[in-house]
Amino acid sequence: MQIKPGHIYNTDKSKLVLIIDKLKNNRFKFVPLIKNSSQGLLIEELKASAIIKEVSAINSAEIKTEVLKLDYGRLDEILRQLVKYDAGIYFQNTKEKAKSRYIPAAGKIIGESELMNMIDASLDMWLTTGRFNDKFEKELAKFLGARHALTVNSGSSANLLALSALTSHKLKNKRLRPNDEVITVAAGFPTTVNPIIQNGLIPVFIDVDLKTFGVKTDQIEESITQKTKAVFVAHTLGNPFDIDKILNICRRHNLWLIEDNCDALGSEYKGKYTGTFGHIGTMSFYPAHHITMGEGGAVVTNDAVLFDILASMRDWGRDCYCPSGKDNTCGKRFEQQHGRLPFGYDHKYVYAHPGYNFKITDWQAAIGLSQLKKLPDFIKKRQTNFALLKSEFKKFEKYFILPEATKKSNPSWFGFWLTLKENVNFSKKELVDFLEKNGIGTRNLFAGNILRQPVFVDDEIKIRIRNSGILISSDLKEEHYALLPNTDAIMKRSFWIGLWPRISESEIKYISSKINEFI
Ligand SMILES: Cc1ncc(COP(=O)(O)O)c(C=O)c1O
Repeated sequence: MQIKPGHIYNTDKSKLVLIIDKLKNNRFKFVPLIKNSSQGLLIEELKASAIIKEVSAINSAEIKTEVLKLDYGRLDEILRQLVKYDAGIYFQNTKEKAKSRYIPAAGKIIGESELMNMIDASLDMWLTTGRFNDKFEKELAKFLGARHALTVNSGSSANLLALSALTSHKLKNKRLRPNDEVITVAAGFPTTVNPIIQNGLIPVFIDVDLKTFGVKTDQIEESITQKTKAVFVAHTLGNPFDIDKILNICRRHNLWLIEDNCDALGSEYKGKYTGTFGHIGTMSFYPAHHITMGEGGAVVTNDAVLFDILASMRDWGRDCYCPSGKDNTCGKRFEQQHGRLPFGYDHKYVYAHPGYNFKITDWQAAIGLSQLKKLPDFIKKRQTNFALLKSEFKKFEKYFILPEATKKSNPSWFGFWLTLKENVNFSKKELVDFLEKNGIGTRNLFAGNILRQPVFVDDEIKIRIRNSGILISSDLKEEHYALLPNTDAIMKRSFWIGLWPRISESEIKYISSKINEFI
């Protein structure tokens, strides 16, 4: 009898075995099965992994009759379980044990379930975006209560895609045109601002509030001109900006609103998740963020037209909406007139936009799916840590302006920022150096005042500041920076420390004790 992997046999001891590999000297690796199991039951037993542990070898002479050949799907499932079982042993004995004493400002929490999903995605050998991504997009949209979510390969790509979408010809007279203006802030991450420049638009910078780090809404209206078409701002470090006020202004002035929600996944405003109020919201899944997939991001929208534009621009600018690996879902692949192409030109290769390729792989989505399940717990822990930090730091209020949640909001905090009061007798650098030396990670509010960065100082970028006329970035003088005093204050006097879920209460007490020691 020829003994083959994937087949189930009876042994001379009346045991049922599933052969999984051929070894040397007529020996076979097998998984023992419970006698009389139906195929369905076999899988359930194997999932319990108790049986998988008993993988051992048997001589061919002990194998008597063949019972059945396992179908491909079931064999696939069993062999996956075996691979994962070994990976679990690896994980529990290596990664779980590696802990450091440093308290980073941000970090990822990935565990065995992420590894298992990565293995599943690897065993699929699908490589590009696929079943895990479909599920992730659906679940992200469901979590946020948004109609549509589309993954992209970073938060920066999400921002670029979101703003580029607003330049689409499909939006007719509402589309953004070169030299149109977009209101934003200089205190934040560069890739909130860069897409404005990359699309040939003009960023108009307004100041931020020192308690909430949110955009100063009272400066929006004074900054609006005939050319102003959009507001593109972030919920900085997880704290929602004043959404009611901004939505109201946007409605009255017919402006698009993009929420950069990269630092605020899970933040709520009036009981609804941020990122779902504006026309488009963006997310980042870089390891420092609320959930991660290594590199990754997403755009969300409730608008069907914007969704089609975003999907087209994410996927090379194509007109066709067939998912990866599928053809002719509309049934008219060769039956339409497009542009000035010959009639019936393959719809798969018809392009409606100057698009990108921002798609993610299924490995990334697989990690993301596992992370999404943990998100509610992550959010709670960030909120608990914020509350602990806030109560610890109350005693230092003489020295620092402490963060404050925006009214009507429940932030899913990204970091705990501290702004040195003007009159303190130590510098930000002295304190940050001290904390880092004592194993406490710190971060700036990213670019600080982006207008002072080489990207603006060394280049001639057209900008406006509040109600100024057009300025050239390389020509800016101190009098211009002075129009954004809080932005400069944040650059000079603010930094943030971590509150991500791995940070414990005792670490928070340690941080507080070190600040006490320094002061
Ligand atoms: C507010 C904000 N927007 C955008 C990004 C960019 O995200 P990514 O690093 O995924 O490109 C970041 C990154 O931290 C960010 O903080």
